[in-house]
Amino acid sequence: MATSVAHDFNNLLLVIAGNAELALVTEGPAVRHELAEILRATDHARELVRQLLALTRAEPALLELNEVVRGVRPMLERLLDDTIDIQLELTNADTTVFADAVQLERVLLNLGVNARDAMRSGGRLTIATERRHDVVVLRAVDTGAGMTDHTRGRVFDPFFTTKAEGEGTGLGLTSVYGIVASAGGDVTVDSEPGRGTTFTISLPHRGDRLLEDAA
Ligand SMILES: Nc1ncnc2c1ncn2[C@@H]1O[C@H](COP(=O)(O)OP(=O)(O)OP(=O)(O)O)[C@@H](O)[C@H]1O
Ligand SMILES: [Mg+2]
Repeated sequence: MATSVAHDFNNLLLVIAGNAELALVTEGPAVRHELAEILRATDHARELVRQLLALTRAEPALLELNEVVRGVRPMLERLLDDTIDIQLELTNADTTVFADAVQLERVLLNLGVNARDAMRSGGRLTIATERRHDVVVLRAVDTGAGMTDHTRGRVFDPFFTTKAEGEGTGLGLTSVYGIVASAGGDVTVDSEPGRGTTFTISLPHRGDRLLEDAA
């Protein structure tokens, strides 16, 4: 279903882009800028379709969220320079979830890079896990610039970015949202200008019994 809708959507994008390209040749410079914007937007839309399709190819498995967090730490250390202190505060409780490991890594890297961009003059990124009954909670807390109400309300919107042209696509948190939702969880944000930002992800806990059954 998703694949055929994406296919139709891509075809429509091709029609839009094709006509904009044609007009770019046949029309005068008056509309050149607008046509270029249309082409840019269709490029973005194609990228979004690609990312959404990547979601449908997820291969979920039982995995320990704590292990995923430990696993991406070296990558985070490389992405964030040494003015940023990375702290892991991982629960001793079982953090088994049913999700795609690569996608969860993408989630953590997206949150990490966003935190880096919000802490240009250094700070701390804390990644914490917690078990609350049948939910595994992951929090990414930074001491960065924080967000205005306007930004906070739009962070998950496709193509919403406050970064300079060419620096951000505004799809990072859209894919975080999509990945978490497809794993049956949800993600919320808490932030204030000058007070840092906390992203909270909740995923259903998959009981220890399930793990034993799988073994
Ligand atoms: N930790 C954070 N602190 C402050 N602002 C943030 C944080 N994370 C996200 N934002 C805001 O949310 C916007 C959208 O984030 P998102 O990751 O979706 O896109 P991006 O980082 O701008 O671009 P991309 O991730 O596609 O390279 C950012 O431009 C920024 O304004
Ligand atoms: Mg981002």
